[in-house]
Amino acid sequence: MINIGIFGATGYTGFETVKLMRKHPAVQLVFATSESSAGGNLHDLYPVDWDIPLIAAADAPLDKVEAVFCCLPHGASMPAVIAARQANVRVIDLSADFRLNDSQIYQKWYGLPHASPDLLPTSVYGLTEIYRTKIKETNLLANPGCYPTTILLALYPLLQANLLEPSAPIIADSKSGISGAGRKATLKTHFVEVNENLSPYNIGQTHRHVAEIVQLINELGGVGDALIFSPHLVPISRGMLSTVYVSLNRDFTAETVQQLYTATYAAQPMVWVLPSGQLATMAHTQHTNLAALSVTLVKPRQLVICSTIDNLGKGAAGQAIQNFNVMFGLTEDLGLV
Ligand SMILES: NC(=O)c1ccc[n+]([C@@H]2O[C@H](COP(=O)([O-])OP(=O)(O)OC[C@H]3O[C@@H](n4cnc5c(N)ncnc54)[C@H](OP(=O)(O)O)[C@@H]3O)[C@@H](O)[C@H]2O)c1
Repeated sequence: MINIGIFGATGYTGFETVKLMRKHPAVQLVFATSESSAGGNLHDLYPVDWDIPLIAAADAPLDKVEAVFCCLPHGASMPAVIAARQANVRVIDLSADFRLNDSQIYQKWYGLPHASPDLLPTSVYGLTEIYRTKIKETNLLANPGCYPTTILLALYPLLQANLLEPSAPIIADSKSGISGAGRKATLKTHFVEVNENLSPYNIGQTHRHVAEIVQLINELGGVGDALIFSPHLVPISRGMLSTVYVSLNRDFTAETVQQLYTATYAAQPMVWVLPSGQLATMAHTQHTNLAALSVTLVKPRQLVICSTIDNLGKGAAGQAIQNFNVMFGLTEDLGLV
């Protein structure tokens, strides 16, 4: 058994990680942390009968675990990650703290100085389908954001074959369930504001996830600055869908573009390319660790990709466990299907 700890077990991603890990056959949960409920139990906060005591992050027994999941807000994650790495514990960080290569870019987007720029070159971006080889070796896994997961999986077959028209925009129109904003209530996310409503926010190049998506598009040979990102909140608990509009640099037919996506993801257990004529919906992936993609060719050089995940599944806890499995040489979907 592999001993693990979960920082931030009381949040939405932390609770999802606990829920999945309780059924994972190769794992023993050693500790779970909370700041505001340290000394309490997870069953005081969620309608479950599991006996999971909560401790403060500072009291985490890092000498008793081989890996930790950091399900903490950005900024709060850095001290936990640094302490875990100092104790030689492998880290899967769900926050944005170790996703960006450049500490100055991190400070620009997240508004605080990075506490450990020296660790940034050691972190691996955990989009499993793209970086599996590096993930196997890493001790610091930066789990991707949920929006970036949908958008990058939609673009990857085109980026890797250099098929995007560099002068054209990449337009990602994205919808997220409210759990994407975390458990703490805010004015923007409370029931009356979101119920029977659909709200765009941070349109263009202003949402924090832009930094990460641009970094990855550039790294994969595309033009990151071409991104126009329009996120929306939809009044559902969980689920995410990005509709991505791109221009291609050569002519395709519906059959050849379908073949490109099917072939790219043929060996990927967590990516489901829908048959031609079907469209990916949130219901294809809710409560799973799957990403579902559908491709619609509008004109020979204009393509629309629908890309959907569960924001707490492939967008957070599920992908984190998928990456954990890869890091520890386990079957990739262990505990996830
Ligand atoms: N929600 C999503 O769909 C999603 C998807 C991908 C990535 N993420 C990322 O995953 C991370 C967690 O997100 P979430 O949605 O699970 O957030 P959340 O529901 O707000 O939970 C945050 C957790 O962190 C703990 N915490 C808060 N401040 C802390 C501090 N200063 N020190 C230590 N612990 C602290 C909270 O503990 P107490 O409240 O018990 O004190 C809680 O357990 C974030 O970085 C987020 O960006 C979220």
